[in-house]
Amino acid sequence: MTFPARRLRRLRTSGAMRELATETRLSAADLVLPIFVEEGLESRRPAGTMPGIERLPLADVTSEAQAAHDLGVRAVMLFGIPASKDELGTQASAEGGIVQRAASQLRGAFGGSLVVMADTCLCQYTESGHCGVSRDGLIDNDESLGVLAGVAVSQARAGADTVCPSAMMDGQVAAIRAALDDAGLGGVSIMSHSAKHASSFYAPFRGAAGCAPRFGDRRTYQVPYTNSREAMAELAADAEEGADILMIKPALAYLDLVAEARRRFDAPVAAYSVSGEYALIKAAAQAGLVDEQDVACEVLSSIKRAGADIIVTYMARQAAEHLGR
Ligand code: PBG
Repeated sequence: MTFPARRLRRLRTSGAMRELATETRLSAADLVLPIFVEEGLESRRPAGTMPGIERLPLADVTSEAQAAHDLGVRAVMLFGIPASKDELGTQASAEGGIVQRAASQLRGAFGGSLVVMADTCLCQYTESGHCGVSRDGLIDNDESLGVLAGVAVSQARAGADTVCPSAMMDGQVAAIRAALDDAGLGGVSIMSHSAKHASSFYAPFRGAAGCAPRFGDRRTYQVPYTNSREAMAELAADAEEGADILMIKPALAYLDLVAEARRRFDAPVAAYSVSGEYALIKAAAQAGLVDEQDVACEVLSSIKRAGADIIVTYMARQAAEHLGR
């Protein structure tokens, strides 16, 4: 059928008609809000490289999650900034570590009404700033596995529902799944940063979380942004190793991979709209060039339209507020 019999504008005649014909509906329930919690902090302070984002003291974590929850956002992802770093990143798995305390606080406050996710990585905790254990300037994959598994178990014991390995070590999902099961934590899920690319879009985050590598870069473990088959192989490996949710990261410049992941896998697909994506929107909005909430919803809808079921975003609250209007 072609014009004039077919007129695509007929389904755009009113707001109600457009609503009826909507194919993609972004909802606050799709969103995960990252939270930065810093050990020893007395009061909130700006995260510096991410305008509008703050590092929180432990005492503010519950109210931060509550504010998002009030808008319908029912999942948070905890990133910890420890008071001290060392070679093995031991604070990442300390019983009284900052993420462990935050997870336990949220679990106590929300019970089952909030999904508490924890970033499972070492880079904020190691002196090297690398995501795995380094030996003589190299990142030792297999030595990192046991350490990461220990981090995941401690986070789960503290109350995390979901651990989110983001170190990009080969075999990390299998190691974490086995350790969780051995510890009697078989009900704890894994949302793996499966295809995490070596991306310049992470730059603002590294300042905000204090995790820039001291030497070299992350290109020996993160996926090159030129390679989509390699990204799919990462997803397949994680699915095989027991990941419950497969993630593509970053999101906006990687929508082809989100769409391909949706076609290939049955597991929920997550996309992480990273700090640099946030920064682009924020800077343009601050310059008065675009409307922040409108652009946020458009970008997040595009990520959902591409096939993501779950979106991790620093704009979760702004988007949820906008959607609720
Ligand atoms: C580190 C980690 C990074 C991000 C999340 N976890 C940075 C990196 O790999 O250098 C980036 C998130 C963002 O930019 O929003 N494991």
